[in-house]
Order: sequence, then structure tokens, then C-alpha cells
Amino acid sequence: MGQKPFLVWFTGLSGSGKSTLANHLEVALHQQGFKTYLLDGDNLRTGLNQDLGFSPQDRVENIRRVGEVARLMMEAGLIVIAAFISPMEKEREMLRKYIGSDAFFEIHVNCPLEKCEARDPKGLYKKVRAGLIKNFTGIDAPYEIPTHPALTVNTEQESIATSLKKVLTSLKLWGIINDQLSILKSLLFKF
Ligand code: ADX
Repeated sequence: MGQKPFLVWFTGLSGSGKSTLANHLEVALHQQGFKTYLLDGDNLRTGLNQDLGFSPQDRVENIRRVGEVARLMMEAGLIVIAAFISPMEKEREMLRKYIGSDAFFEIHVNCPLEKCEARDPKGLYKKVRAGLIKNFTGIDAPYEIPTHPALTVNTEQESIATSLKKVLTSLKLWGIINDQLSILKSLLFKF
């Protein structure tokens, strides 16, 4: 397929901007001719993982299954982009080992809880404060800040465009993507 499969893993609080960034990254990679697959907590939890809740055990199982799916997709040659809260370092480390550290890029989407709560894109924080949702990450369930992410983006201060640029620059720096495909494509289109 002419591309190196890898997994870009966005971790962060609900409302931090993981899904937005993941979606923008997918569009940017498509435009450069890469074949990708996007895995998102909100989507997977309505299908494959609909039997799982938010207990610590269920969250572990959620991430384990996502790791399995990601690996299958990578075996098919795809670049996989994943957006999951994935609150515990242990599970993220499990993924790193399972996928291989040369193909696993952990990106911490860093945004203070107050800001995520002010954004409240799905109205969930409001429900949490009203006592309707329990074990919510950052409120009454833990979020362990990644100790050695490949990259941290700060979505409180940065625009999505700036964060996306940082991600793309890092992927290039790591040698994961280069402009060869787009150069090749533009050449092919000329003939
Ligand atoms: S994870 O912790 O297991 O990685 P995942 O990323 O799949 O979580 O799903 C998180 C999404 O589920 C949140 O963005 C939010 O929309 C929703 N959600 C519902 N209940 C909770 C909860 N108790 N804690 C965190 N997110 C929740």
C-alpha cells in the first residue's frame, strides 16, 4: 500500500478535543493520500463495545478491544487514529507493548477540567453535576496524565489548526509520514 501502518492514540478528558483533532487529522492524512481508519470511544461504545460501561474493569476491556481492532486494521495496512479517554497509564502502556513502541504514538490532548466542563459539548458535565452520571473521568473517576507521551497539545490555548499542525509536524519528524505519496500523486495526475 506504500505506507507504514501505525497507531495515533489521542488520550484526554471528555471535551478536551480528542475527537475533533482525530477527525481533522484523518482528513489531512486522506488529502495526502494515506489510507486511515478512525476509532472513537463514542462510536465504538454504540456497537462493538455497547456491553461495556465505565467501571474500571469495563474501561480496561474497552481499551483492550480497541487495541485488538487497531492491530487488525494495521495488519490490513492502515494508519489507525484512535480517540479514547483511556484514563490509566497502565492500559496505555499495555497498548504500547501490544502494538510496539515504534508504531504507537500517544498524544495527550491536554485541557483543564474547568475548560472541558465549560465547553460541555455533549451536556454530560451538567448531568454529572446534577448527580445523574457517576464515575465520570476527572470528577469522581481518575485521569492519569501521560508520563511520556510522544506529544502534548494544549487545546485550551491552541486553536485546532495549531494542534493539528503540531501533530502533522511530529508525524513527519518521526518519519511516519512524508510527502512522497503526495508528490507521487501529483506527478501521476500530470500524465
Ligand atoms: S474510556 O475511559 O473507556 O477510554 P471512552 O473514550 O471509550 O472512555 O468513552 C468516553 C465517552 O463516553 C465520553 O466522551 C463521554 O461522551 C461518554 N461517557 C459517558 N459516561 C462517562 C463516564 N462516566 N466517564 C467518562 N466518559 C463517559
